[in-house]
Amino acid sequence: MGNARLVPIVAPLRPVTLLLAAALASPPAHAQEQSDVNRLFATSCGFCHQQGGRVQGRGPKLMGTEKSDEDITKQIKNGKPPRMPAFGKSFSDDQIKAIVAYIRALK
Ligand code: HEC
Repeated sequence: MGNARLVPIVAPLRPVTLLLAAALASPPAHAQEQSDVNRLFATSCGFCHQQGGRVQGRGPKLMGTEKSDEDITKQIKNGKPPRMPAFGKSFSDDQIKAIVAYIRALK
């Protein structure tokens, strides 16, 4: 019993399968996310944070904000009554993360 050898049962993964999986997984998904967050910002935030958050409108300019990611996340979740509505109930954590990344990437 103690000396019984385990026969490895490993299905050989062919390199071509891995390459295909990698090609299918990343780039299109990323491009899709990018346009999703742009639309999300334009429809939910653009009314007050104009030109995609690049200039001051009803709300302040967001590009180059000195707030930390944590503060931005809180601001989106809780808003700032009565001037900015709270979005914690309408957005998932992933959506909020994507918006924080969007604000950070503004140029
Ligand atoms: C109805 C107008 C309105 C909408 C819609 C709105 N905001 Fe705001 N936002 C404001 C106002 C006004 C402030 C300034 C609040 C204050 O500090 O008094 C602000 C502040 C902020 C700040 C803090 C900026 C800083 O540097 O102090 C962030 C970040 C922000 N908003 C993100 C967003 C995001 C992301 C959305 C969309 C999900 C959004 N806002 C939608 C009006 C709005």
